[in-house]
Amino acid sequence: MILEASNQKDLETVKNFYLGRKGKIADIIKNIPALPENQRPLIGKEANVIKQQIAALISRKQVDLAKNLTPQDKIDVTLPPNRSRLGGLHPITQTINEIVKIFEHIGFCVVEGPEIETDYYNFQALNIPEGHPARDGLATFYLKDNDYLLRSQTSTVQIRIMQQVKPPLRALSPGRVFRPDNLDASHSFMFHQIEGLAVDRTTNFSHLKASLAYFVEKFFGPKTGMRFRPHYFPFTEPSAEMDISCIICSGQGCSVCGRKGWLEILGAGMVHPNVFKEVDIDPEVFQGYAFGLGIERIAMLKYGIDDIRLFANNDIRFLEQFD
Ligand code: DAH
Repeated sequence: MILEASNQKDLETVKNFYLGRKGKIADIIKNIPALPENQRPLIGKEANVIKQQIAALISRKQVDLAKNLTPQDKIDVTLPPNRSRLGGLHPITQTINEIVKIFEHIGFCVVEGPEIETDYYNFQALNIPEGHPARDGLATFYLKDNDYLLRSQTSTVQIRIMQQVKPPLRALSPGRVFRPDNLDASHSFMFHQIEGLAVDRTTNFSHLKASLAYFVEKFFGPKTGMRFRPHYFPFTEPSAEMDISCIICSGQGCSVCGRKGWLEILGAGMVHPNVFKEVDIDPEVFQGYAFGLGIERIAMLKYGIDDIRLFANNDIRFLEQFD
């Protein structure tokens, strides 16, 4: 009977016939107490052995039948439906989109530049000539024959924009940058920056400050404090770094801000006259400001992420928190 079953349903019927609650085996076991005392252990034992043999036979037959299931057998209409899973935007993309949206409100538009660059755009035109000490701080991946390199900063795009568009202009440029840094919780050989550039006849430092204050308020919240510290960048003069009050401890001092209460988030300054001259814009007529910030860093601050490597590990458990 077992071997003759031609489908799962028939097999199920056979199984019930022998092993079911009211099946043959159950019947035998139920009647054991009525047997002469000396026969009971033997019959009980035999019944169990047979039960196991039948069960083994049935499960083997089940496997055989499963190998050539008919379409009707395969579809179990009682199963819950497969819910299709939609992908989400990567947290870095989301952060870029958010920053772009804020600056678009104050007249900036997005322009992208190439990741493979020349020395001219990455250094020379940005007032970083050969032998300039600033080149040391911007360690760079050089490509074959040193004719090309992987850009180490998005400031390259400042030059490309001003070669093509004459002021007044306001542009924003997000993208990847590369530096031969050792990988650890806060460093990576590839990360993202966003570059900002605004040029007009009367553009001045207070415009820079107001634009960045607007950004900080929208991105980190209205209670966030900000301050500028004098700094040096070859392509801006004067130059500054901007800090925000620590968003973890609100300026009290904690391990994230190194007990300082402040977090550096970007570099900025007024476009250097040499940079204007390089793109045929008269520095006597036009003035501009520029800024550059690291996306991973501010995404880490905003979302409380403590390891930059999480962005590139493709771990779904991390990524789906941003869906
Ligand atoms: N390019 C700089 C860096 O990667 C950041 C920067 C500083 C960009 C000052 C600017 C700027 O546009 O004005 O460290």
